[in-house]
Amino acid sequence: MSADHEIDNLLQENRHFAPSAEFSAQAIAQPGIYETAKADRLGFWANQANQLHWHKPFTQTLDWSNAPFAKWFYDGEINISYNCLDRHVEAGNGDRVALFFEGEPGDTREITYAELTAEVKKAANVLTDLGVRAGDRVAIYMPMIPEAIVAMQAVARIGAVHSVIFGGFSAESLHTRIDDAQAKLVITADGGYRKGKASALKPAVDEALSGGKCPSVKNVLVVKRTGQDVGWVDGRDIDWNSALANAATEHVAQGFNAEHPLFILYTSGTTGKPKGVLHTTGGYLTQAAYTHKNVFDLHAETDIYWCTADIGWITGHSYVAYGPLANGASQVIYEGTPETPDWGRWWSIAEKYKVSILYTAPTAIRSFMKLGSQIPKQYDLSHIRVLGSVGEPINPEAWMWYRNIIGAGSAPIVDTWWQTETGAIMISPLPGITTLKPGSAQHALPGIEIAILDEDGNELGNGHAGLLTITEPWPAMLRGIWGDPDRFKETYWSKFEGIYFAGDGAKFDEEGDLWLLGRVDDVMNVSGHRLSTAEIESALVSHPFVAEAAVVGANDETTGQAVVAFVILRQNQLANAGSDADVSKMLRDHVTKEIGPIARPRTIMVVSELPKTRSGKIMRRLLRDVAEDRPVGDVTTLADTSVMDIISGKIAGGASD
Ligand code: PRX
Repeated sequence: MSADHEIDNLLQENRHFAPSAEFSAQAIAQPGIYETAKADRLGFWANQANQLHWHKPFTQTLDWSNAPFAKWFYDGEINISYNCLDRHVEAGNGDRVALFFEGEPGDTREITYAELTAEVKKAANVLTDLGVRAGDRVAIYMPMIPEAIVAMQAVARIGAVHSVIFGGFSAESLHTRIDDAQAKLVITADGGYRKGKASALKPAVDEALSGGKCPSVKNVLVVKRTGQDVGWVDGRDIDWNSALANAATEHVAQGFNAEHPLFILYTSGTTGKPKGVLHTTGGYLTQAAYTHKNVFDLHAETDIYWCTADIGWITGHSYVAYGPLANGASQVIYEGTPETPDWGRWWSIAEKYKVSILYTAPTAIRSFMKLGSQIPKQYDLSHIRVLGSVGEPINPEAWMWYRNIIGAGSAPIVDTWWQTETGAIMISPLPGITTLKPGSAQHALPGIEIAILDEDGNELGNGHAGLLTITEPWPAMLRGIWGDPDRFKETYWSKFEGIYFAGDGAKFDEEGDLWLLGRVDDVMNVSGHRLSTAEIESALVSHPFVAEAAVVGANDETTGQAVVAFVILRQNQLANAGSDADVSKMLRDHVTKEIGPIARPRTIMVVSELPKTRSGKIMRRLLRDVAEDRPVGDVTTLADTSVMDIISGKIAGGASD
């Protein structure tokens, strides 16, 4: 949780921005929505669900009798891909652009709803021809290209379960995830364009599957994006383009039970093993579509929506691959990085496509802010009318910059709090209704019930920091952890009876607006990406030179937090290890190989001791003090109180990366 002085600063925020009368008059969410949901929460969700097409209508909204395993709309049948695609074509909107694709090299494609539907039907037939059946798992490891969305939609259309693995994960991470889910098929690409060059993906898949390591995988479907040379295993590897060209064009979407599994998405928890968060169909789509429409005030006929998240994260699932398509939105997807060929790229895309709704992360906003307003000011951003933020707390300074420079001083900002586990947005202002306060996520959405509790489960009033909990089930909630029902109960439902504990600290201010105060567990948030201290520690100790490792997330001006690792080297390796700088590089490379570039520590500090309590628990709080370069806090619970002097002395001596 943030330091006390930061909390106090936050609570001094007294700027308020009421919605303009003009905005409110046209807004999707109208006053009264909170009261309606409060008066009949389940009825409210049933109404939201009924905006979708059901192959077989549901008669019961929620079955919570086997809590915490929820069943939403469970006697209904639905096809998620039909809702995202065919439905719009049948309603006469087939010519509307679904995807404006911008490749990093500058190549572009416009894909209408009719074209996207046709592609997904062919891909669904390819999957079926390859023997993929409802319930089978399919791993997806792809760049941000339209085929990635086609792949997800096609897998969902036939009732198979996708597990998208972010392209920044290494072969080793890919292997563990493919194996855990026992995937039958992997869909990948030769590579994608990043930072001005072709960056390979297929070799990581080859390595992950090498030596019979993932026997469940029968085939690898490969999109040729970059044309770079890649290995090819005959009989296993299949070219996406030729397979689609030869596939039957018709595919009738069948209804699946609302609780049919839709996807697994691995995320970091407090242990070394990532959790396969499981989502199901009807409730997930209901809340993804409802939040996408109301929180972003989506007017599908006129808005151009752009969410910059990669499909490898939950935001790319709910607010790229599913929510926007369910609502018939026209959206931009961009393959590359914001600085390619220069830091004006995002703004040139926003200008070119007349983006009206932009959804991104505070890290990106802070990076742009650091470079100065003159870059975005060169572009016409006048179409932007709603701005979204996700993934980490947005500091008031970045909030103001975002509103003034990107939003012309008038666009409402929706700071959306949610998690991989919640599946969809839970806490956010509603533009057109909420009077905004920079830095605060403000209120639970209509239909969502939250409470801030102390350690004993007592509800805290305004002005008191505590633990953020969700007190009633919600449609897009995770249904479990893949293959580990006990871990699901233990992780989320054991701290408070019948209540979901999110892992975040939070506080209502004196006006009842909610402030997120960061994780209270050992989960870090680096550039909005979730990383576990334990996972990086176990990667470090898997190196033969490392005896012990402790990882902390230290505050970082741009990335929110940064990974800082303290390592003790094995005595018998000290002579081979080289300088601290050599060790640091070697271990950072090792983490990159074991987990992926996203987990690469910013700093490695070689130390001779770690601060531990008498029971052997590492006191990360003290290491965080060192990493953040401030006086070390209370050391009285340490088994050996001199340890921190030794560490601080060494660090002051300049032994960091
Ligand atoms: O700590 C919270 C932070 O991100 C965590 C969830 O991470 P992940 O599952 O990767 O999903 C990120 C995208 C939804 C949360 O436990 N977080 C997310 N959104 C916010 C946030 N912290 C503060 N403000 C937010 N708007």
